Amino acid sequence: MDYKLIDMKVFGDERGHLISFEKDINCPFEVKRAFYIFDTKTNIKRGIHANKHSEFLLIAINGSCKVKVDTGKKQEDFILNNPHKALYLNKMVWKEMYDFSYNAILLVLASTCYDEKEYIRNYDEFLQSIGK
Ligand code: TYD
Repeated sequence: MDYKLIDMKVFGDERGHLISFEKDINCPFEVKRAFYIFDTKTNIKRGIHANKHSEFLLIAINGSCKVKVDTGKKQEDFILNNPHKALYLNKMVWKEMYDFSYNAILLVLASTCYDEKEYIRNYDEFLQSIGK
């Protein structure tokens, strides 16, 4: 599975709502790192890379953004615009995040610790790496 949109179970009652991510229940990997992208300026694209070893879950916990996902064989655009949609991205998937709303906070859960060496930031190199 290169990528998939997961509809998260929302625990809600009269107090409000809660969403949990837990390995082997609704998160396909053990989370080693989390970061969030916020205050993104208009017309900015982020990501624009593939990762050799990392899997990710992307959740717009506030506002919205779009994500272009490219496996080298197939491209698809997703809109993340609520906190109960999580976009799973496997290793070696090219991703570009764009069209951030002014209030967007994109939470990213990752299966690895940060290592710049596992980033492929050149699209032709990405295609070469997957044998295209
Ligand atoms: P960058 O890779 O440009 O972010 P994105 O691909 O999401 O647009 O990262 C921006 C800076 O943050 C860069 O100096 C590396 C640093 N960084 C970390 O130190 N740890 C992390 O987990 C991430 C994602 C980035």
